[in-house]
Amino acid sequence: MNKSHTGATAWTAASSPAPNLTINLDRLLEDRYSCRSFEHKRAISLHCLELLLSAAAKAPSACNLQPYHFEVITGESLARVERLRNFYGASALIIGSFDPQNPGYVSAQGQEFRLFDLGLALMTIALKATELGLDSCFIGSLPVKELKATLKLTTDPVIALALGYPAADAAPSENHELRRTGAKLYTIYD
Ligand SMILES: Cc1cc2nc3c(=O)[nH]c(=O)nc-3n(C[C@H](O)[C@H](O)[C@H](O)COP(=O)(O)O)c2cc1C
Repeated sequence: MNKSHTGATAWTAASSPAPNLTINLDRLLEDRYSCRSFEHKRAISLHCLELLLSAAAKAPSACNLQPYHFEVITGESLARVERLRNFYGASALIIGSFDPQNPGYVSAQGQEFRLFDLGLALMTIALKATELGLDSCFIGSLPVKELKATLKLTTDPVIALALGYPAADAAPSENHELRRTGAKLYTIYD
């Protein structure tokens, strides 16, 4: 799955919890939060990573073009990029990039949709992660050049989703509770 993967830790030495099949969408949305403290040494199994990436493949995209590519970073590769910024002790990063061969859907007015598509795919992964008992955090502030050089990526990282099991002190930030709702968020035209 990851041709440049050198270590074996995250892929093999891990527990693989069964998905919670009784969880409903409200509960998933309630439980998901940006985790900024992961249990560093607890690896995510290959099986779980495959479930996450299979979920991404089910996300909608404009004209179904799926104009993105994911790099899954674990083990030694993750240790190297942790020198570049704090990934909160995550056990894996899924880096989302645009597929250079596939610009995605661009409307007649010139509106590009690929950023939207990538966001939908990663949110699908984030919710699947919650179902699997994993926590996650989107990371948009990436050291793009350094990440690309360190991992020898051929695409430019756009955003990463940090994934792992929560550490004992993990908790939602104050921001998590601050949500605009009702009239502040939407207008109904009846
Ligand atoms: C596109 C995007 C980029 C983000 N970038 C970062 C980031 O670089 N670092 C970080 O700690 N959190 C980042 N976040 C997490 C947000 O701060 C977080 O989703 C928001 O404060 C709401 O909190 P919650 O996810 O716990 O509900 C990002 C979220 C999104 C959707």
